Amino acid sequence: MDEKDLGTDLAKVLIPEADLQAKVQELAGQIDADYAGRDLLLVGVLKGAVMIMADLARALHSPASMDWMAVSSYGSGTKSSGVVRILKDLDTDILDRHVLIVEDIVDSGLTLSWLVSNLRSRDPASLEICALLRKPEAVRTEVEVRYVGFDIPNEFVIGYGLDYSEKYRNLPFVGTLAPHVYGGGS
Ligand code: XMP
Ligand code: MG
Repeated sequence: MDEKDLGTDLAKVLIPEADLQAKVQELAGQIDADYAGRDLLLVGVLKGAVMIMADLARALHSPASMDWMAVSSYGSGTKSSGVVRILKDLDTDILDRHVLIVEDIVDSGLTLSWLVSNLRSRDPASLEICALLRKPEAVRTEVEVRYVGFDIPNEFVIGYGLDYSEKYRNLPFVGTLAPHVYGGGS
């Protein structure tokens, strides 16, 4: 899927594909350096992190295990409910493992702070976060995101894993949705 398949649903391209790919390489370089000699477990948060996880994992030079968690914090709308539920738990016991949570976006930070305390209670050797995108509000939460791809404005974004009502995840870039799509005006 690309820009022309979106018709008038796309307001604008916020982060082009080439910029995303370059950033993923840069993040992978930092992660490789920081985890040298350690056994790394990447924990992707479904479904939004699928694209960043797939690209980041392939950009790493060291072998890393991959596991997935699915949590729900949003319904089909655009606002965080603050209620987090585990829809799918890890298959892996993370006791004494070096865990890196891979997230698509930190918005209010509610999802991540919940996830961090949940995973921390399982006593990993270390626990860090990599998030492709961060919205301004996230700065106010106490969750420290070690690896951040891009700080973006407070707009609803789609693409590269991010959805609106389960659509647009398969865009290779990150864009903003036209307000008429989600009823935010014309
Ligand atoms: P919080 O507010 O808990 O939200 O940090 C994190 C989760 O909410 C989703 N989210 C978005 N999804 N476009 C999306 O497609 C957005 O602009 C957006 N903002 C937050 C996302 O699933 C993230 O993990
Ligand atoms: Mg989502």
